Amino acid sequence: MWAWLAGFERLQRLQPVIYKALYQQLEKSIQQGVLRAGDQLPPQRQLAQRLDIALATVTRVYNLAEQQGLIYAKVGKGSFVSICPVLPQAIRAQDYQCINLSIIKPQVALAKTQLAEQFKALSEQQPLTDLMDYNPDGGSLTDQQTARDWLSQQGVNIENRGISICSGAQHGLMVLINCVTQHGDYIGVENYCYPGIISLANQSGRKLVGIEMDQQGMIPQSLERACQQQHLKMLIVVASHQNPTTAVMSESRRKAIAAIVKKYSLWLVDDDVYGFLSPDLPPISNFAPQQSFYLSSLSKSMFPGLRIGYLVSPSSFKQRIDAEIRNSIWMPVPLTLALASRLIYSGQSLEIQQLQSQLAQQRQKLAAKLLTGCDYLAQANSYHLWLKLPQPWNSQRFSQNLKQQGILVSSADYFCAEHQVHTAAVRISLMATKTEQELSYALKRIRLLVYSSPGAI
Ligand SMILES: Cc1ncc(COP(=O)(O)O)c(C=O)c1O
Repeated sequence: MWAWLAGFERLQRLQPVIYKALYQQLEKSIQQGVLRAGDQLPPQRQLAQRLDIALATVTRVYNLAEQQGLIYAKVGKGSFVSICPVLPQAIRAQDYQCINLSIIKPQVALAKTQLAEQFKALSEQQPLTDLMDYNPDGGSLTDQQTARDWLSQQGVNIENRGISICSGAQHGLMVLINCVTQHGDYIGVENYCYPGIISLANQSGRKLVGIEMDQQGMIPQSLERACQQQHLKMLIVVASHQNPTTAVMSESRRKAIAAIVKKYSLWLVDDDVYGFLSPDLPPISNFAPQQSFYLSSLSKSMFPGLRIGYLVSPSSFKQRIDAEIRNSIWMPVPLTLALASRLIYSGQSLEIQQLQSQLAQQRQKLAAKLLTGCDYLAQANSYHLWLKLPQPWNSQRFSQNLKQQGILVSSADYFCAEHQVHTAAVRISLMATKTEQELSYALKRIRLLVYSSPGAI
């Protein structure tokens, strides 16, 4: 209960800044995993006595931490670390006061004509009340056929494999972690990975092992070393436009990783939500189809609000996966599933994917112009970029400074699989702003900050 305060007592002399310092200590302890989801915090009065500070200061800190979603209070029981503090901090779905470059999403307004057209056709051709009823939990026959068509379009090998429909890729990840691994199992991931995975692992008591990366993502030799040191049950790989680094694996790297998956009998999760941006590369799971799960969604290629994902599994897992989907959501929402199916079989999904990819390309060109001289990683049509910061900047200080200027980006800390930050970097989403003017303004401020020294601001 007290370990996270080690060294803090010395700071008591700094009474005027104690509130801020105590809050930062709490935040850092949660981000670095010293305090874990569900851990109980000391009662406020005891903490105030131990640190010899006013009870009101502790109450203020706990209130702020609760507002920020870091902790929650249970009446009569005390305060506890939130179950998923990482995800809402790393990604803000909406922020009306700031230019929000913290969320990777498509520009939904680009496809408003197609959306309106399919909504209209849906309401005219199908009784809407049917779509508000309980429906078959695996989707209708049309939904299943469209899932097969869409997966084939993405180059996924579906031969002798089961197809399930889930509620977006985050849900798919949860289903797979629950079906394939158990409490205490080790899961290999890129050492900077999508925060939704960190959040799920924290919540479910799985341990993440961060595998080193280079410009092409996960390094096969590092994976092999990890397999020799630890019994990894599962490996989650984002082989295209990796979140957060934008790394894309070549075909030969995909084959090398798949060979290690087979050699060490791992279960591979091929999280391919950005795969449509690299259509010429085969999904990594195609190289070990009986030992892998292919997972993707329509969130990045079309509309995140559809909450539709597709999960391909070895046929022996199909029943277990469907049961887990039923247990968690009963069925994907029939209205949005019908809409998604219409967008796919009308061919408009491909049109929308292409529009989004073209917009991403334009925005990357704009970023290249406005961030000249900055050190960053990106592909020609990635939705985001990974900006490395020069010394003496650190990721948190840089993102906090930008926040004070009304610009939100995601600090490298949020992506650390093992709570160790080696790189000073931030992830910047280029597709999140509605206008190029807004994006240009933010990128100019970001470049200015890169070239300023932290002390001068
Ligand atoms: C790599 C990765 N996987 C999964 C997800 C979750 O996607 P969805 O909106 O389909 O749940 C994201 C979202 O950002 C992501 O970047």
